[in-house]
Amino acid sequence: MYAILSTPNFHHQAQTLAQKLQLPLHTEKSTDTTFYLYYTENGLNLIATHLNVGPLHLDFNHGVLHQRLQRATISKEPLARAVGLHKNPNLHLCDTTAGIGREGCLLASLGARVTLVERSPIMVALLNDALNRCNAAWRERVILIAADSRNFLATTKEHFDVIYLDPMFEAHSHKAQVKKEMQYLQALMGPQEDADALLTVAINLKPGRIVVKRPLKARCLLDKKPDFCLNLAAYRFDIYLS
Ligand SMILES: C[S@@+](CC[C@H](N)C(=O)[O-])C[C@H]1O[C@@H](n2cnc3c(N)ncnc32)[C@H](O)[C@@H]1O
Repeated sequence: MYAILSTPNFHHQAQTLAQKLQLPLHTEKSTDTTFYLYYTENGLNLIATHLNVGPLHLDFNHGVLHQRLQRATISKEPLARAVGLHKNPNLHLCDTTAGIGREGCLLASLGARVTLVERSPIMVALLNDALNRCNAAWRERVILIAADSRNFLATTKEHFDVIYLDPMFEAHSHKAQVKKEMQYLQALMGPQEDADALLTVAINLKPGRIVVKRPLKARCLLDKKPDFCLNLAAYRFDIYLS
């Protein structure tokens, strides 16, 4: 299903990544592989042969992700308020569902120290590549851990002021124009039914605050009523205080 594609000038990097991820190395695309990771001059890319969208490439120095970080302020970003950055601009946060790192890096760019945890080795490879190329000052406040957050939180000695959860939302077929990034995440991860368990482990760690991103009408994780909610147009943040 997954493979690394060796491209003319990047054979060595492709070989190293194939060994690291224990994935086959192909020199051309084959029909039995759905996802290919490959290098270009820009860095690492992911292409899904069954999706009708271009490659996924993460870049914090240019483009959409960069612009979003450039524009962000604590007062304008609902997530920044949800995690309490307006009260403690240097807080230490664990983003337990790093994904493409958009939200975790946004919070780091606004001053937080952020531990990103991601369990998909493919996403970790893309994110690691983007962070290695990132030349922004906030980069030094970010650590990326390749792990299942349930295991990470159960064993970490770190103290986090805030734990953030953004589990995959269910894909709704009528929302055909889901953004490219989300299409890739949904195609890679499939349905995830362990978000309740992740909240349980987060609660056990007793951080100052836990923030969970949920679709507007979805039930609360663990059916646990939050201390308060921040409702936005398309989703809400459920906020639990210790
Ligand atoms: C909706 S995406 C998160 C998007 C992210 N907030 C962003 O801004 O890019 C969910 C991600 O969480 C990851 N994930 C879900 N459960 C996890 C767990 N228990 N441990 C680590 N990663 C997890 C999935 O692999 C997926 O990449």
